[in-house]
Amino acid sequence: MKILAINGSHRKGKNTAVLLGLVLEEAAAGGAQTELVELVDWRIEYCLSCHRCLREPRCSIQDDDMQVLAEKMQGADAVIIGSPVYFGNVTGRLKVFMDRTRWLHMRKNLLEGKLGAALTHAGLRNGGQELTQMILERFLLSHGFRIVEPREPGRPIYNSAILGTLFEGLDGERFRWRKGVLEDALTVAMCRALGRNLLRAGGRDL
Ligand SMILES: Cc1cc2nc3c(=O)[nH]c(=O)nc-3n(C[C@H](O)[C@H](O)[C@H](O)COP(=O)(O)O)c2cc1C
Repeated sequence: MKILAINGSHRKGKNTAVLLGLVLEEAAAGGAQTELVELVDWRIEYCLSCHRCLREPRCSIQDDDMQVLAEKMQGADAVIIGSPVYFGNVTGRLKVFMDRTRWLHMRKNLLEGKLGAALTHAGLRNGGQELTQMILERFLLSHGFRIVEPREPGRPIYNSAILGTLFEGLDGERFRWRKGVLEDALTVAMCRALGRNLLRAGGRDL
């Protein structure tokens, strides 16, 4: 089973990348082949809105890195997308990527039936993670992905989705922040659960 993780953060290797890494680590321990794509490493032009993808399954822009990224998605059994919350939404970088995948589903649904999952990370406790999660899942559903959630059969349901935060508490009026995302035990547990569920959804008996 091949699992591709896509990080929409503008920062490589930081919170969102760490969370995606946990999901991949868990899945890899169960035998999956995994890859993490940091979008910041790739050159992705804006969609031109030329609507060529309404006529044929092809994008007009061929001289950036989107073709390689599309091939990676087409070659994967599961795609997991992670985004930090920027103003209650996905990052601008990730949105540009999402728009450029339009040709993969307008004429032919080239990603239909693959497994898909999403996770988010934000500074605040309720900083827009849920809305961002919904935007990511809506994107996956538009492409015909089958959404895999982090809740596991026969185990407690921790949360509706992986909605990471650096917020730890208040000391009077002062915010207390976690030093790193790995201190968020709930989110870490849910990332590992998602890794296992991706394996289950891929047919692995756990
Ligand atoms: C432009 C910008 C907008 C942000 N907007 C929000 C926000 O709306 N809510 C929030 O809780 N955190 C917000 N943050 C904080 C990030 O979501 C947070 O630092 C996150 O952990 C970054 O993920 P990363 O470490 O993977 O880059 C924002 C950060 C930036 C740079």
